[in-house]
Amino acid sequence: MAEFVHLFYKCIIIRTSRKKYLRVIKLLVLLCAMLYGVYVYSTYMKHIHIEKKRELLEFQVITTSHYNNVVYQSPIAHLYHQKSKTFKRCTRNPMRLFVIMSMQRSGSGWFETLLNSHMNISSNGEIFGQKNRRQNLSTIIYTLDKVYNMELVTSSTKNDCSAAIGFKWMLNQGLMEHPKEILDYFAKRGVSVIFFLRRNMMRRLVSILANSFDKNAKVLNGIHVSHVHSHEEALKLSRFKPTINVTTLESELGKMESIAMKALEYFNSTRHIIMYYEDLIKNPNKLTQVEDFLKLPRMKLSSHQVKIHKGPLSENINNWEDVNRTLSGTTYKRYLRTDY
Ligand SMILES: *[C@@H]1O[C@H](CO)[C@@H](O)[C@H](O)[C@H]1NC(C)=O
Ligand SMILES: *[C@@H]1O[C@H](CO)[C@@H](O)[C@H](O)[C@H]1NC(C)=O
Ligand SMILES: *[C@@H]1O[C@H](CO)[C@@H](O)[C@H](O)[C@H]1NC(C)=O
Ligand SMILES: *[C@@H]1O[C@H](CO)[C@@H](O)[C@H](O)[C@H]1NC(C)=O
Ligand SMILES: *[C@@H]1O[C@H](CO)[C@@H](O)[C@H](O)[C@H]1NC(C)=O
Repeated sequence: MAEFVHLFYKCIIIRTSRKKYLRVIKLLVLLCAMLYGVYVYSTYMKHIHIEKKRELLEFQVITTSHYNNVVYQSPIAHLYHQKSKTFKRCTRNPMRLFVIMSMQRSGSGWFETLLNSHMNISSNGEIFGQKNRRQNLSTIIYTLDKVYNMELVTSSTKNDCSAAIGFKWMLNQGLMEHPKEILDYFAKRGVSVIFFLRRNMMRRLVSILANSFDKNAKVLNGIHVSHVHSHEEALKLSRFKPTINVTTLESELGKMESIAMKALEYFNSTRHIIMYYEDLIKNPNKLTQVEDFLKLPRMKLSSHQVKIHKGPLSENINNWEDVNRTLSGTTYKRYLRTDY
């Protein structure tokens, strides 16, 4: 650009004709205007793109979106017949393969125990919690083959009459590092995806902080627990109110949201369903959507796990005033209101 201008300038010096000089100036002005126009347009488009993404997420987080309906990609992909050495199948039913994609402290442990109470579901827990299984793409594919070929025996593995087999995969366990290859694998084997997410990331943050506090404090008889099975235990654990660092709060929430959003984008083309923890708490009947999604008979599902943090957020946070003030003017103010 600079050279270009320089050239023009030289040109002007040499030909001193006033008429030509004016024409060149006009041309230059026109050129600048055009370039500026292109620049403005491209920034505008970029801005629009970001805004669109944000709207999409808010849509996901606030309203009951159409994603809550089952999305069928291929009507035959999930009909997968499987013979196994370690599993005795009681029927010749097709085995459905699924994965629960979630984030820590989103209630997915509770959700999985609910699923495992179904006589035909076998969900194998957080198998990629073990680092060696997610070391690289080969170990990931190897582990996926193991679990979906029913050769991975875990404590939650059922031997009788499973018609759907799966596991829980946290977004920070290698999943987001190889989205393309994993997507290919899911398509090839017909794996259905259950997104299990939290609408309110602020509550998730409280749970993360309380859980990490308990790792050291070990409130329940000197033993650290992530989930509890009685109201007394829940009450004891919820007495600790975390102090939230308001300096980093907005960016923390933003990070959480964008990871969830990215996962939804990456795995959008799979056959999937989106379940929100909050919706399930309010309406346990939503579980039938999951049963239908997996094409299993509807049953009453139950879990022994008990919710730890209850009531309004203001009662669960030590520096509530600060938090309320920090978020009230931001897009995250919606997190302050919702109670359950
Ligand atoms: C992946 O990790 C395994 C286990 O450490 C190793 O044996 C293998 O060579 C690695 N593969 C690649 C492609 O890096
Ligand atoms: C579910 O399990 C029951 C008994 O455990 C069995 O009779 C039934 O066939 C299974 N259903 C499917 C769809 O496999
Ligand atoms: C909040 O986090 C920032 C950045 O990590 C840190 O510099 C600051 O000391 C923290 N504030 C408190 C009160 O912990
Ligand atoms: C998922 O795909 C649908 C249809 O192709 C599209 O409308 C939607 O915006 C996508 N969602 C995400 C989160 O990318
Ligand atoms: C949060 O702050 C707003 C003012 O910004 C106030 O009206 C509201 O009552 C506060 N909420 C709680 C639960 O303290």
